[in-house]
Amino acid sequence: MEQTFIMIKPDGVQRGLVGEIISRFEKKGFYLKGMKLVNVDRTFAERHYADLSAKSFFDGLVEYIISGPVVAMIWEGKNVVLTGRKIIGATNPSESAPGTIRGDFAVEIGRNVIHGSDSVESARKEIALWFPDGAENWGSSLQ
Ligand code: CMP
Repeated sequence: MEQTFIMIKPDGVQRGLVGEIISRFEKKGFYLKGMKLVNVDRTFAERHYADLSAKSFFDGLVEYIISGPVVAMIWEGKNVVLTGRKIIGATNPSESAPGTIRGDFAVEIGRNVIHGSDSVESARKEIALWFPDGAENWGSSLQ
């Protein structure tokens, strides 16, 4: 079954949007397969956004991502990569439709609350980067 990587960014966590975001994915019918609250360091953030390293906003983007904890998640379901992007809305909140997460909760492109993989291939890479030991799902146990 198709999987995607979703990250609630530091502004989403600080603003108390975690429950709302998870609820939207759950109500759609997707399955939460892995989730963790993490602080990432500069090197890790640069690796996650390596494809954007030449962009003028790269340094600011990295500062933003390391500014507080993020919620990293794996979601699973039919067409979850593309449909997840629709639930999230356009990258620039000025262009994201009302009813989408960014359309409802964001104003600035540099503070756009959430990230979602843009293809099945990026999802595979991002899941491997963020969950190197596999998803810590409800089946994991403590001893
Ligand atoms: P995300 O979906 O995480 O993918 C890349 C991120 O880069 C994007 O969301 C934004 O947070 C950020 N981004 C893209 N374009 C700009 C921009 N013009 N200025 C600042 N940040 C940007």
